[in-house]
Amino acid sequence: MREANPGTIYLKDYSAPAFLINRTELHFELGEEHTIVHSRLHLLRSPEHAGEPPLVLQGQELELLEVAIDRDVLVEDAYSVDEDTLVIDKLPEQCVLSVKTRIRPQDNSSLEGLYKSHTMFCTQCEAEGFRKITYYLDRPDVMSVFTVTITADPVRYPVLLSNGNLLEDRTLDDGRRQVLWHDPFPKPCYLFALVAGDLECVEDQFTTASGREVCLRLYVEAKDLGKCEHAMGSLQRSMRWDEEVYGRMYDLDIFNIVAVDDFNMGAMENKSLNIFNTSCVLCDPNITTDRGYQRVEAIVAHEYFHNWSGNRVTCRDWFQLSLKEGFTVFRDAEFSADVGSRTVKRVEDVTLLRTAQFAEDAGPMAHPVRPEAYIEINNFYTLTVYEKGAEVVRMIHTLLGAEDFRRGSDLYFQRHDGQAVTCEDFVRAMEDASGVDLGQFRRWYSQAGTPLLRVRDSYDEDAQTYVLEVSQSCPPTPGQPGKQPFVIPLAMGLLGDAGNLPLRLAGEEPDAETADNTHRVLVVDQAQQRFEFVGVGERPVPSLLRGFSAPVRLDYPFSRVALCQLMSRDDDGFVRWDSAQALATQVIGDVQAQLAAGEAPQVDALLLEACASLLEDESLEHAMVAEMLTLPGENYLAELCEEGVADVDLIHAARAAVQAALGVGCRELLLRRYQALSSARPYVAEGDEIGRRALRNLCLDYLACADAAHLDMARAQYQAADNLTERLAALRCLACYGGEGDWAAPLQAFYEDWQDETLAINHWLTLQATMPDAGVLDRVRTLMAHPAFDLRNPNKVRALVGAFAGQNPVHFHREDGAGYALLGEVVEKLNASNPQIAARLLTPLTRWRRYRGRGEAMCAELERLAALPGLSPDVYELVSKSLS
Ligand code: ARG
Ligand code: ZN
Repeated sequence: MREANPGTIYLKDYSAPAFLINRTELHFELGEEHTIVHSRLHLLRSPEHAGEPPLVLQGQELELLEVAIDRDVLVEDAYSVDEDTLVIDKLPEQCVLSVKTRIRPQDNSSLEGLYKSHTMFCTQCEAEGFRKITYYLDRPDVMSVFTVTITADPVRYPVLLSNGNLLEDRTLDDGRRQVLWHDPFPKPCYLFALVAGDLECVEDQFTTASGREVCLRLYVEAKDLGKCEHAMGSLQRSMRWDEEVYGRMYDLDIFNIVAVDDFNMGAMENKSLNIFNTSCVLCDPNITTDRGYQRVEAIVAHEYFHNWSGNRVTCRDWFQLSLKEGFTVFRDAEFSADVGSRTVKRVEDVTLLRTAQFAEDAGPMAHPVRPEAYIEINNFYTLTVYEKGAEVVRMIHTLLGAEDFRRGSDLYFQRHDGQAVTCEDFVRAMEDASGVDLGQFRRWYSQAGTPLLRVRDSYDEDAQTYVLEVSQSCPPTPGQPGKQPFVIPLAMGLLGDAGNLPLRLAGEEPDAETADNTHRVLVVDQAQQRFEFVGVGERPVPSLLRGFSAPVRLDYPFSRVALCQLMSRDDDGFVRWDSAQALATQVIGDVQAQLAAGEAPQVDALLLEACASLLEDESLEHAMVAEMLTLPGENYLAELCEEGVADVDLIHAARAAVQAALGVGCRELLLRRYQALSSARPYVAEGDEIGRRALRNLCLDYLACADAAHLDMARAQYQAADNLTERLAALRCLACYGGEGDWAAPLQAFYEDWQDETLAINHWLTLQATMPDAGVLDRVRTLMAHPAFDLRNPNKVRALVGAFAGQNPVHFHREDGAGYALLGEVVEKLNASNPQIAARLLTPLTRWRRYRGRGEAMCAELERLAALPGLSPDVYELVSKSLS
């Protein structure tokens, strides 16, 4: 392991590679003790590099057996090796470098490079895992054509896969099997993949618009063969969508997906051989929630879309990560919006962004969408790079319009096909294709932090004018004390008594009547700006940031009456939802103040009325009603607080009191709706049904929260359910609103029923880690010793420990610090075995400035970790930045 203090890598230090690798031949001999990797790199000194620079290859945890140049084996003083590199001086301008190494995938617990998951060999090379396989120029701007030979025992590993096309398959004299794969597309090594195992596959096909027949295969363990249908359908839908919306066609005759149980993240877009976390690809009504089905569809699409936005056009360096990730998240979000409900998808994404990305922007790890420095790149696969990066692409889409955006993406793909490029190249293609100047817009890539958009208004009845005074600012972030104004597209409308008003800015022709003149996008690009609307016949309620047109915090002093109007009547679904959230946030704030003052909670009747009318309105989409009735989460409420103010206990108590009051106040409506939404039909994971279950489960949750007498309904629902979504919702009610006598037996029963389905059991772990009872921390400790838990499996760590630290704020932030100690212990263990997961898990501790009365204890735990010997760069970076 690399030791502290690891160095910082800077974007400003980028220089082009001194050598190119035109072709890469890899030969793997997979064994039970170890694996031998023999590589032949066809090297060429880069014409741009003067002089004779040494060749510096990266390599980690490799046992070097032999080095040869053009068949001449090198003596040991002809090269030098250390922990991280192999350096060879005085190479000819062109040569073939052969390197033989021995690795131990069996012992590789970091799940980077080549490792074993159960009995299967698999790889994860992004970002810098390839250097754990063999010595290489492990950087994305070195693109090479790969040929891969795999030799293995045919009984243990009947399936042997790599990228591209299978060219040979034969049995050797010694009985082993040998296959040869060739990928015609040059690629960086982070897109290399190898899989060997005893897998079965589901096969289907897709015919591209150009007539290419593509064989689609999904490889899983035999017991999971029945769980592939949804992912396969999702793949076919995304392939079609990318043709229709982006004109992007698939480019090989095979597309493989492999499901792996032990995986650090969701999935990986290796060329023609995507590798997925089983949790992101397998679906079954008994092991997958409705949300899970939607997540699988989105992730399958995401990885498929990378074939163009990531693989055909890749990143020059890892600072450009958002070039592929931000763009691809935008693409998958639009895909999900097109195949499902656009507004609901937007609401889900904005909730994540405002809860978690805004928190990242406000914390010690804040960084721009294109970071300028990192210690460990794995720490920068962040919500900022992914989700905010997608928002930046979305804003370009908004500013250019759909048609010019498509011209821009066509130009980008055509201009840079086969290249490793930068965010700047993407923006320039958008500019060149549209003629829109994005000069100032580029600040979204370089400035960190969440801008604050302050809006004030005034109405002049005599002049019939309405003025919006808009100002923007952005708080300081590490290394960036001051910020320049951003370009903020502010989509808006004005709501009048009888609906949305026509919009005309001062100076515009009165007859400039367009098809839709009740909606427009104001471009805010200065620190302060004034927008005057004329011909406004009544004082309007502004509908601001429609569709969440920019990743900013909006500050406008909405009255509660205005919020109710927007909630019930605005044209924009997102604004309707957001107004409901804002109203609920205000009311929860009232109750927090009352509880803090020792008063009994009083829930504003306006909120009650608003919820009642939502429940009465049969015309609204079920999923949307459910979203609008869902109170803002505790983490979001904490995120809205100033530093040092968030009080987790008070937030929890106030939110619960409001929910209970709504449950009591709307009891009849909730009961009626709950009954009406029952269904005798067998489970299908399709839009309307998902919405129906979401709303029904929400009704149950309100009812059970209001009165434990309704727990009988939860028990009945649990018994009647034929799917995980309804079962978990019922169990959650029992666990959150009942006593041990209500939940102990059903939790046990769930385990007994589903213990063989590890993905279902992970939900069971999460439920138990996020319960509100006082015994939860001890239960988490007990569960860590349960056979269902395994510290080596990232899904289980996330399901139990990650959920406790991230989704149970009251108990994670226990006053005695026991929650922090628990997390610290697990991070310490994982630091040695799987640093990437250790650093991920640590994130809640980095938010120590936010919480009232907890900062000291959180810092103490961070300091304890900081002082540990053998800290991985991953954990070192988070701990040191949090404490500085
Ligand atoms: N490229 C993958 C995806 O977003 C994720 C890779 C994550 N890698 C990492 N080191 N965290 O589709
Ligand atoms: Zn991605």
